[in-house]
Amino acid sequence: LSEGTPPRGRPAPFGLEGVPPEVIGAYRLDRLPLDRPRRAMADLLRLDGKVALVTGSGGQGLGNAIAHRLAEAGASVAVLDVDAQAASAAADELSGTWGVAARPFVANVGDWAQAHQAVQAVVDQWGTVDVLVNNAGGSGSVGTDGRTLQGSGSFASLSKEDIDLTVTVNLTGVMYMTRAVLGPMLSRRSGRIINISSEGGKIGMAGGVPYNSCKAALIGFTRNLAHEVGPEGISVVALCPGVMVTERLVRRGAFPASSDGSFAALLRRTTLGRFSIPDEVASAVAFLASEAGSYIHGTAVSVGGGLAD
Ligand SMILES: NC(=O)c1ccc[n+]([C@@H]2O[C@H](COP(=O)([O-])OP(=O)(O)OC[C@H]3O[C@@H](n4cnc5c(N)ncnc54)[C@H](O)[C@@H]3O)[C@@H](O)[C@H]2O)c1
Repeated sequence: LSEGTPPRGRPAPFGLEGVPPEVIGAYRLDRLPLDRPRRAMADLLRLDGKVALVTGSGGQGLGNAIAHRLAEAGASVAVLDVDAQAASAAADELSGTWGVAARPFVANVGDWAQAHQAVQAVVDQWGTVDVLVNNAGGSGSVGTDGRTLQGSGSFASLSKEDIDLTVTVNLTGVMYMTRAVLGPMLSRRSGRIINISSEGGKIGMAGGVPYNSCKAALIGFTRNLAHEVGPEGISVVALCPGVMVTERLVRRGAFPASSDGSFAALLRRTTLGRFSIPDEVASAVAFLASEAGSYIHGTAVSVGGGLAD
C-alpha cells in the first residue's frame, strides 16, 4: 500500500480538518488513533520491539501458551517463574522457535522484594516492560516455595496455610508485580497490564472459595486500578478463562472417568458444550496486548465458552 491509501474496501479515515482547536482540546480528539483504518489488521496485531513479561510462563500451562503467542507476534519475552528449570527451558524454546529474545527470570511473585528485583532485571536487560501478563496462579499450582496449594475443597476443611498460599500467589502476587512495573510504565506513560482472572471470579460455586474469591478480587483490582493509571497512558484489563484442559490438570486426575464432580458440573454450565485449550485463551491475550485491543480497559473479558453467562 502506498502512503495514505486505505486498505482496499476500507472507508477513508475520518480527519479533524476544520474542527475548532478548542473542541479538539476539550474532547482530547488529538488522542484518537485516527490512522488506524489505514492499517492492516495483521500489522495492528504485531508486537515487534515490545517487551512482554509473563508470570508463570515456565510450565506447560496458559502462561507458556501466552509467551508463545507474544513471541510469535515479535515481542521480547521475559519468562518469569518460581521454577528455575522450567523458566530456562521455556525461554530456550521460545527463542529457538520464534527467533525472538527470550530470557528466564526466577521469582516468587508473592514476595515483594523478588517481584521488584525481577522487574528491575527485565528493565536492566531490555530497558522497560511494555506488557505485563499476571498469569502465575491457580488452585493447585506450585506455591511460593515449592509447596503445593490446597486451594480447593470445602472452605471448612482448609488450613490457614492453604488460605494464605492461595491468596499470596493469586492476589498478592498480582498486586506486587503490578506495583513493580508501574515504575517503568509511569515514567514512559505507556504500558499494558493483563490480569488472568477466571470465570470462577464471576460465578459462585462450592469447592473453590479462596481461589474464586481471589479471582473476583482481580476483577475489582483491574476496575479500580484503571481509574488511576488510565489517565497516565497505562491500560489494564482482566481476562477470565473458563476451564482449560492443561497437562497438569489431566495428570492431577481432575477429570475422573465417572464424569461426576466439579469439572462435570462446570461442563454443564459451559454453553459452548466443551472445555478449552490454553491457546484459545492465549490468542485472546495476544489480541489484548496488541494495538488491536487498545480500547479494552478496566473490564473483565470472558474467554470461557459461556461458562459465566
Ligand atoms: N487451568 C484452568 O482451567 C484455568 C481456568 C481459569 C483460570 N486459570 C488461571 O490461569 C492461570 C494459569 O493456570 P494454569 O492452569 O496454566 O496453571 P499451571 O499450574 O499449569 O501453571 C502455573 C505456572 O505458574 C508458576 N507459579 C506458581 N506459583 C508461582 C509463584 N508464586 N511465582 C511465580 N510463578 C509461580 C508455576 O511454576 C507454573 O509454571 C492461573 O492464573 C489460573 O488461575 C486457569
